[in-house]
Amino acid sequence: MSQPVVLGFAGSPRRRGNSEQMLDACLAGAEDAGARVHKLVPAEMSIHWCRGCNGCSRNGACVVHDQMYEVYEAVDAAAAIVFATPVYFASVPGVLKVMLDRMQPYWARTHVLKQPRPPRRPGGLLLVRSGGDPYGFPGAEYPLKSVCGVLGIDIEGEVKTAGADAAGDVSRQPLALDRARSLGARIGAASLGGRLDA
Ligand SMILES: Cc1cc2nc3c(=O)[nH]c(=O)nc-3n(C[C@H](O)[C@H](O)[C@H](O)COP(=O)(O)O)c2cc1C
Repeated sequence: MSQPVVLGFAGSPRRRGNSEQMLDACLAGAEDAGARVHKLVPAEMSIHWCRGCNGCSRNGACVVHDQMYEVYEAVDAAAAIVFATPVYFASVPGVLKVMLDRMQPYWARTHVLKQPRPPRRPGGLLLVRSGGDPYGFPGAEYPLKSVCGVLGIDIEGEVKTAGADAAGDVSRQPLALDRARSLGARIGAASLGGRLDA
């Protein structure tokens, strides 16, 4: 059997910023545990927003044929999925939200077409913010948790890091990077059918 893949989404439009560094640490942990990893960057893909046409409620497929189909393929193949994102105006960056909205076919298959739910698989959330507004992480967490529910992802853990603003600030938070790496190791082990305790 082929090695399970841990899929990581780097949700920021800023490459190699804080959330992507957290993701890289997490994926390194998954590799340590023996999993293969695959990173996708929605900001570098051509993904149109959901039209809200409910076309997917007819046959479970999105009518918009763009690079989201590469995302669907990766999601379907993944044994585990990790989302990394900065907080933008108390939510996720638009470029990530556009991709999340395009997960609607998975919802339609289960809830409208009554197809079997996707198999359960482990996952994790990595959130980074500067701390510049009073609303914290929940507005970014909820859309990700909603999508995880639809994709059958059991969230093994979350790492939330505040106080990181300029790209690379997170490298001065070794504890946060360590926690991301440990979470990746747990997710990697779980994707292989094993468990590492927190
Ligand atoms: C458009 C925009 C909106 C932001 N909104 C928030 C916010 O609501 N709360 C917060 O704490 N930080 C906010 N930030 C700061 C980012 O979360 C912070 O810079 C983060 O480290 C960026 O992660 P990245 O390096 O992965 O892009 C915002 C930054 C930008 C560019």
